[in-house]
Amino acid sequence: MTARAGQAIRLAPSILAADFAALGRDIEAVTRGGADQIHVDVMDGHFVPNLTIGVPVVKSLRKATTLPLDVHLMITDPDRFIEPFIAAGANMVSVHVEVLPHLHRTISEIQKLGAKAGVVLNPSTPVSAIEEIAADVDFVLVMSVNPGFGGQVFIPRSVAKIRAVRALLDRVGNTAAPIEVDGGVDLSTVSEVVEAGAEWLVAGQAVFGSGDPAAAARALKDAAQQAARGGGR
Ligand code: DX5
Ligand code: ZN
Repeated sequence: MTARAGQAIRLAPSILAADFAALGRDIEAVTRGGADQIHVDVMDGHFVPNLTIGVPVVKSLRKATTLPLDVHLMITDPDRFIEPFIAAGANMVSVHVEVLPHLHRTISEIQKLGAKAGVVLNPSTPVSAIEEIAADVDFVLVMSVNPGFGGQVFIPRSVAKIRAVRALLDRVGNTAAPIEVDGGVDLSTVSEVVEAGAEWLVAGQAVFGSGDPAAAARALKDAAQQAARGGGR
């Protein structure tokens, strides 16, 4: 029921649902709508059944916005690309636990290069998979759809998972690390994920799928902040 004290909502519009021929314009719109960071979905056609964008696009985005760039690596070999993405301007880099046998090394490398390091859990991955790394990460990303595509339906079990990840982070003393939630976040699901403890909210379709991304971003962030307050701050 309870949102946590000081819960700091950040809206992270996912450009996966934006117009790739007009990214600058779309980012400007969500910035006006109160976006706090820009979520960039990198897919390799192996780890997930879709292809998106790479380092050159992040480099161009860096020139187009001062907002932090939140790069979500849905690729089988993230270690090869961490340095180039951070050099291109990524401020947060998140990597999937499912593909990394040496996750501690990967997280340390991201941090050493000056970015915030996040670990991502697919819907079928148990929270226990991150038990040994939970104290070291800067944030945890809970996938609330199977990664690969925008516009999918939110998986309801993700709410319980967010609570379990929050409990784990608190138990290991990493109270500062926020939970990011990604997939199917919209006006109908945002309150329950915030009440469960999510603070960074990725939204693609709910923001860019509307005729007015600035207004949609603002409405979603307002709803999230209201849920955070309602949780008893
Ligand atoms: C899915 C991506 C998401 C996606 C979310 O693989 O990681 O970031 O853009 O899109 P929506 O908000 O439309 O579900
Ligand atoms: Zn994502």
